[in-house]
Formats: sequence, C-alpha cells, structure tokens
Amino acid sequence: MELYIDTANLDEIKEAADLGVLDGVTTNPSLIAKEGVDYVKRLGEICEVVSGPVSAEVIATDFDGMMTEGRDRAKIADNIVVKLPSTVDGLKACKAMSEESIRTNLTLCFQPLQAMMVAKAGAFLVSPFIGRIDDIGADGMDLIRQIREIYDNYGYSTQVLAASIRHPMHVVECALVGCDVATVPFKVIKQFMNHPLTDSGLEKFVADYQKAFG
Ligand code: E4P
Repeated sequence: MELYIDTANLDEIKEAADLGVLDGVTTNPSLIAKEGVDYVKRLGEICEVVSGPVSAEVIATDFDGMMTEGRDRAKIADNIVVKLPSTVDGLKACKAMSEESIRTNLTLCFQPLQAMMVAKAGAFLVSPFIGRIDDIGADGMDLIRQIREIYDNYGYSTQVLAASIRHPMHVVECALVGCDVATVPFKVIKQFMNHPLTDSGLEKFVADYQKAFG
C-alpha cells in the first residue's frame, strides 16, 4: 500500500520524506489555511521535496471555475494531481480533465456510488473519508470495503485513497482490505514504528550484552 502524508506543513513533509517510504502528499484548503501561506507557492515547495503525486484542491465549486483553477494547478509541476469535490460539477470536471490527461483526486467521497461515478469519469484517485464517517457513529471502513469490491468487480483503475485517517488501526484495516493508498497525518505516521515491547526488548538486549562483555 502506498503511503501519503496528509498535511501542508513543509517541515512535516520533509521529515516524513526522510523516512524513505513516502509516496505522495495530500493537501486541502483547511490544511493550507492552518499554515497561513499562499496555496500555489506552497504546492511548488512541496513538489520540490516529493516527486510522487501531490494533491492540489480547487477552491471553486462550479464546473468552469474548477476547470480554470485545475488547469492552473496542473501547471505547477508534473506530479500535481488536481483535487475535485465528489459533486455533479466535480464529476464533469473530472471527465473533462481526464480527457486533457490531467490526473484528478475526487475528494469528500462518502458513499459508494460517488466512487463508482468518478471511476467511470476517469479519476486517478478517489478519497473516501473514513474518520468523518466514524465521527457520526457509522463505520468508515464499510465504505472502503464496498468501493474495493465494486472496483474489483469491474476492473476500474481508479486508486482507492483512504483519507480522514485518525489512528494507526485505520491504516492496518486499509491495508487488510486492499486500499491502494492511505493518506495519513504526520502525528499518526510517527506512531507506526512504536511498540513498548520493542523498546523494552531492545533495552534488555543491550543490558544483557553489557553485563556479559562490559
Ligand atoms: C485528504 O485528502 C483529506 O482532505 C483529509 O484526509 C481530511 O481529513 P480530516 O477529516 O481529518 O479533515
């Protein structure tokens, strides 16, 4: 499974890239607002650090506006993927951009038919939001399983990118059901290599060795 980082913070992106296993980046307007930086400038900076897909969301919500912004975003770097909402206008923009060979990530996906429609329109990625579904008392992983099954039934090539991830078990479950990509906040990525038994085991190995050999 590919691993993207879900942030617009350049330090976090650099630190995650240093791990050597980062495949891409996702950003959104809220993440950029948190950083308080110019979106286009920051996307350019991110693309200098990461060569894999970098999702750049449009702010416009109408077809014409999405097309204008999307074409502009796509010019920033070859690895930009234009992020569009899973709405009717977003679907039309997805189709039009795929005909122009602009890769798209259809975001804010909350039900399987949105995923089926955007796959038919040629989306490169679809982003089901697991955490936000869990937040309202439903099961976000059910959506991932349904999309995986539909895509496999018909051989759709759109990649399933699990988004709105809150904790490491979301990532484990995504890997078990065959998600193509998970986009993960930095604080969760940092938990991936943690286990108390690893720490105590390592401490004992070192202590035993020093006791015997000094
Ligand atoms: C990623 O592409 C999404 O924008 C992001 O994962 C949303 O996460 P949130 O629900 O934590 O805001």
